[in-house]
Parts: sequence; structure tokens; C-alpha cells
Amino acid sequence: MMAPTAFLLDGKAISEGVLAQVAEGARALAKRGVKPGLAVVLVGQDPASQAYVASKGRAALACGFHSAQHTLPADTREADLLALIARLNADPAIHGVLVQLPLPGALSAARVIEAIAPQKDVDGLHPVNAGLLATGAIARATVPCTPAGAMVMIDKACEALGLTLDGLEAVVLGRSNLVGKPIAQLLLSRNCTVTIAHSRTPDIAAVARRGDVLIAAVGRAEMVRGDWIKPGAIVIDVGINRIPAPEKGEGKTRLVGDVAFAEAALRAGAITPVPGGVGKMTVAMLMANTLAAAQRAAG
Ligand code: GUN
Repeated sequence: MMAPTAFLLDGKAISEGVLAQVAEGARALAKRGVKPGLAVVLVGQDPASQAYVASKGRAALACGFHSAQHTLPADTREADLLALIARLNADPAIHGVLVQLPLPGALSAARVIEAIAPQKDVDGLHPVNAGLLATGAIARATVPCTPAGAMVMIDKACEALGLTLDGLEAVVLGRSNLVGKPIAQLLLSRNCTVTIAHSRTPDIAAVARRGDVLIAAVGRAEMVRGDWIKPGAIVIDVGINRIPAPEKGEGKTRLVGDVAFAEAALRAGAITPVPGGVGKMTVAMLMANTLAAAQRAAG
């Protein structure tokens, strides 16, 4: 096969730059006697969630934060989870509260997210933060971590390709509150013409091909094929899908994105890999949001 021609957006390198700035900000706060504190709540034993939560805790410590993990059983009653959130809301050592999603069983993600104090909602999922983003008050909003990280990568791609976002066509595949909707708002705020396509969109490939910027956030392994890519497009792959990898041995698995990388890289102008792409940025932007929450609390 031909070598990929696209500019590779290296999540590891870009996230390390963000994390270095966050650590510097934390050192400046420490001189004023303030240590940013992040509490991460994990309910149940989903292996992927366990891995994500562990990497968030490690990153917090590496940034010089106070890090607390609360692990609750899958059969936790909603009232008990809400009581924990109320305690974290009231704890002056905690500036950021994150409840890892998805939640097991009958727990309501909406009720749980709405219980987090908006100023401690470092996930940016509380309706107050979503509303600030949707009304264009981005400076006062906490922006969800994955969309915020994707925007950093899009800016890097524009720099590398000599493009400006203003007026470009952006196509977002997926309409989740976590990624699709907030990233569409961010692209709109940067004057892109934004289309959100989803599982009920007819001929989604033709819609995707309009995108100068294409965001794949559907959670389906390698759904986006090479011929879905407009030549020269910036392709941001938000998917993290575990698929069988018999070539690595029986029962082995590997991670792939929502984009068929090898095919897409032949047409894209810039592209994120999976792993080592947007996922790394999500954790870095969570640290940036936590630092910002601590800075605001410190006045
Ligand atoms: N599950 C997958 N991504 C995320 C995220 O960004 N935040 C939370 N809370 N849960 C997630």
C-alpha cells in the first residue's frame, strides 16, 4: 500500500504541550497556597471506564494536583451517588468533579450531571455550561474535554495546512451531548458552516464528503471509509472501539477509531490516529479545565 500522505496529528505530543502548561499553572497557584483538586467518581466495573479513570488520576498527580478517586459498586442507589456529589460540591479542596460515563443500571446520567455544581463541572456537561456554550458565551463556559481537545488539534491542522477555519464546511458525525453537539457549537463559534449527521441521515457518506473538517464521533469501528473523505480534509477521529485481533493471537483485541485510518490517510490533509489521537487530548483538557476551575475559585 501507498504510504499515508496526510499530516499526522500526534495526540501524545500535542497533549504533552498542554499538560506542561497546566503543570506550570499549578505551580503558580501553589505559590498562593492553592492546590487544584480533582475528584473522579467511577460507578461499577466497566474495564474501559476503569482504564480512563486511572489515566485521569495519573495525569492529575503528574500536574501536581490533589487527586481523589471514588469507586462505587454497580448497584449503588442514585440517592447515595447524589449524596457523594453533594459532599464533593461542598469540599473546598476539590475544584473539579467528574462522574465517569456511562453509568450502570437505572442511574440517570442527566440527574447526576445536574447535581454537580456548575463551577466544579470540569466535564462541561452541566446544562449551565452547555447553555453558555450554545449561546456563544464560550469564555464563561467550561467546554467538554473531548471537543476542546479536538479543537486544539483542528487548529494545529489548520496551521500545518495553511488553512483558516472561517467559512469552511464542517461535518460532525454523531449527535451526543458528550461530543457531537458541543463540537458542532465550537465549530459554529469559529464561523464554520456546520452539519450534524447521525444514524438517521440518508446517504451519510455523501454528507461526510462535503466536510473540509470531518469529525467522526459515532462509536462504530472503522465506519468512515476512505471514499467518505473530501481530498485534503481535516479528519478528527473521536472513536475508541475495541475489536477482535486474531492476528495477535487467540482472544486478543486492538483499538480502532470510527475511521478506517489507512484508507482515510490517503485522502485526508491531516488526520488523528487511534490510539494516540484525540483520547490523549481529552485527559489533557480535563486537567486544563480543573486548573481553570481552581484559578476561578482562588479569585
Ligand atoms: N466517558 C467517555 N468520555 C467521557 C468524558 O469525557 N467524561 C465522562 N464523564 N465520561 C466519559
